[in-house]
Amino acid sequence: MEIRLALQEDMEGIKALLRKYHRDTISEEDRPDGFVTTAITDEQLTRLINKEKGVTVIAEPVEGEPDKILGFCFAAPWEFWSSWPLFRHMMDIIPEYEFESKKLVLDETYQYGPMCIDRSIRGTGAFEKLFFASLDQFRDRFPLMLTFVNQINKRSENAHNNKAHMQTIGTFDFGDNHYFLMGIHTDAADKYFR
Ligand SMILES: CC(C)(COP(=O)(O)OP(=O)(O)OC[C@H]1O[C@@H](n2cnc3c(N)ncnc32)[C@H](O)[C@@H]1OP(=O)(O)O)[C@@H](O)C(=O)NCCC(=O)NCCS
Repeated sequence: MEIRLALQEDMEGIKALLRKYHRDTISEEDRPDGFVTTAITDEQLTRLINKEKGVTVIAEPVEGEPDKILGFCFAAPWEFWSSWPLFRHMMDIIPEYEFESKKLVLDETYQYGPMCIDRSIRGTGAFEKLFFASLDQFRDRFPLMLTFVNQINKRSENAHNNKAHMQTIGTFDFGDNHYFLMGIHTDAADKYFR
């Protein structure tokens, strides 16, 4: 297994994994272990892969075929996310919050997520490897990463608290959903991972 930036040829594998664990298409068996709510078009995903360099994947080589994608994590500056209503809302409220007693400044942060790991490799350390690989991709561009976790997604909350060492900055609501706003310094791998 290899952790690397996604290539255009990974697109179908990423979409297949997203379908498997998206709220609208996930199996009832998998639902208690969390699901992704963000939808993305082919055009947006192509831009995220090629222009933003914002997709990190766990890829398993398969003889004579494209690599099998067993995990992906999206991340990009806020400008990329600004057409999604939830992210637009986050952009509006982020300046109201503080991280380590300092007011958040939108331009000093970017948004990570969704993150998705195939059930076959969950709980193996793959989450941490993918998380910190993605964080490393952005450390030269931003000091701070922000994300949201749906409060009903307890597995994701636990993984981001305990394995990724993210800090909870606050909570917010959007539509009928309740979220945690979480943050971490982009050089955190030096402290928690290497
Ligand atoms: C969320 C996700 C990326 C985490 O990766 P993972 O490999 O499952 O994470 P881990 O197993 O290493 O850690 C999960 C933690 O939750 C705990 N956990 C496991 N199942 C759980 C459940 N059903 N409810 C609550 N906690 C649970 C684990 O014990 C572990 O806790 P610990 O850190 O105290 O040991 C992965 O489960 C996933 O892709 N889920 C589906 C998509 C999703 O929900 N993505 C996140 C939202 S964008």
